[in-house]
Amino acid sequence: MTNIPINKPYADSGEEALVLDAVKTGHGEHRNKYLDRFEQEFASFTGAALAHCTSSCTGAIHLALAAMGVGPGDEVIVPEITWIASVEPVLYLGAKPIFVDVLPDSWCIDPKSVEQAISPKTKAIIAVHVYGNLCDMETLLQIAEKHHISILEDAAEGIGSYRKGKHAGSMGTAGTFSFHGTKTISTGEGGMVIASDPEFMHKLRVLNDHGRDPKDPEAKMYWMRQYGFKYRMSNTQAALGVAQLSKISELVQKKRDIFLSYQQELNNLPLHWNPEEEGDQNGYWLPTFVVDSQHSFNREQLFQAMNANNIEARPFFYPLSSLPMFQSRPENKVAYGIFDRGVNLPSFHEISPNEIDRVCQTIRNFFHG
Ligand SMILES: Cc1ncc(COP(=O)(O)O)c(C=O)c1O
Repeated sequence: MTNIPINKPYADSGEEALVLDAVKTGHGEHRNKYLDRFEQEFASFTGAALAHCTSSCTGAIHLALAAMGVGPGDEVIVPEITWIASVEPVLYLGAKPIFVDVLPDSWCIDPKSVEQAISPKTKAIIAVHVYGNLCDMETLLQIAEKHHISILEDAAEGIGSYRKGKHAGSMGTAGTFSFHGTKTISTGEGGMVIASDPEFMHKLRVLNDHGRDPKDPEAKMYWMRQYGFKYRMSNTQAALGVAQLSKISELVQKKRDIFLSYQQELNNLPLHWNPEEEGDQNGYWLPTFVVDSQHSFNREQLFQAMNANNIEARPFFYPLSSLPMFQSRPENKVAYGIFDRGVNLPSFHEISPNEIDRVCQTIRNFFHG
């Protein structure tokens, strides 16, 4: 029985040609050729004015929060349900993450919880489009405007997701993306920041070049006014990114087809799936279900059945405040109530209809005993 992994990149001769060109010619005066192109094409794809390549989304979040001025003593409001990388950069900067609850349908940050968590120390909100699902950006933007705070959209999982026609990541102060090997488009490791304010983006670019500012009137070799970071993407990775982005519609459509197959094949089971509101498009990075709370569900037993059939399924994220290094916040009832009832399913682009059937059959057998 073949192994069905959760995700893996898709690449063909298009990637091969550009990567080879970058390796052979992407140096000297051409050292930024693919980086510039990837940034321009990504900005145009997402509808953002500006984009900046990074070595990971974790680095992109770190840079974006730093460019927002987040620092020691500040608070940053974050959702309970996300990958730890959304929150670690808050800690790197000496600020405090304030964990708030998520909505029961989208599993994204709950604007009401956000409003309750605002304090004079709040500097930013991180809105995570988890598993491709979209945050209620209209309400979050109103809250941010009212309290004069920044919004970072963590769209690491949100490529191909649109809120009322606007691409995930393009609505807040900045948006960040991941091109890790498990994502819809991949550069192996890699990330991107998008933003519309040129001053913000300039600050971020300077921070990502060890603090070197080409506009500084005193700029000279090896001399800088401030220290920064180095989360740079290589030109070769950017070539991979350009090739991947050229097939983005196809790759997102494939994700959508995979999701719809699961949802249709399992529609008789008591499962809540990634939602898609009227007027939105979900890029369905990771097809996910949460079992209805009326039904008893032993997730470990389902994982054992999946393992026995050589299928890699994954657990829903733990509420981050429940991890040992944080203070738990069980009052975030939605997050604490759903996490152990949630399962992520395989969605690599080349999964075959037979493999999708095998996943669905395993789940049906588990529920029907
Ligand atoms: C929601 C979220 N944020 C941030 C990241 C970090 O991305 P990277 O692995 O590119 O640093 C990920 C990656 O898996 C993610 O899923």
